Amino acid sequence: MEDITQLYSIAVQCRSNAYAPYSKFKVGAAVLSSGGKIFGGCNVENVSYPCGTCAEAGAIAAMIAGGEKQIAEILIVADTENILPCGNCLQKIAEFGTPDTLIHSANLSGNIKTYTLKQLLPDAFAAKEVKNA
Ligand code: THU
Repeated sequence: MEDITQLYSIAVQCRSNAYAPYSKFKVGAAVLSSGGKIFGGCNVENVSYPCGTCAEAGAIAAMIAGGEKQIAEILIVADTENILPCGNCLQKIAEFGTPDTLIHSANLSGNIKTYTLKQLLPDAFAAKEVKNA
């Protein structure tokens, strides 16, 4: 519970720095690594729309840059009822998580709904499918 409160406040802080001039939809994320460290991220859009990156991608990149490799939990926050990671980000979470990795969906009112990765991405494409991975 203490972790969730910390994840929430870091994600909200990162969201305030989101660069979303095109969609105007600011998103923040915070990853708790299995080593107990927290890494934040926000969405960073681009005038060439497909170049934009999601908040989850930023937080995961920060985790890797910080030397951690395993996602225990990730929290995403936006000014909406219920924000869930896009398919692309679910696959990124799968790369560094397990089927039981917790995904917390939060809004600015402080409501938080918790899912597992396997609920949102069952039967994920995984390294075992790739011969040389
Ligand atoms: N976005 C995220 O950062 N995370 C999500 O989980 C969903 C969508 C961003 C991408 C884009 O900058 C904006 O929200 C609108 O789609």
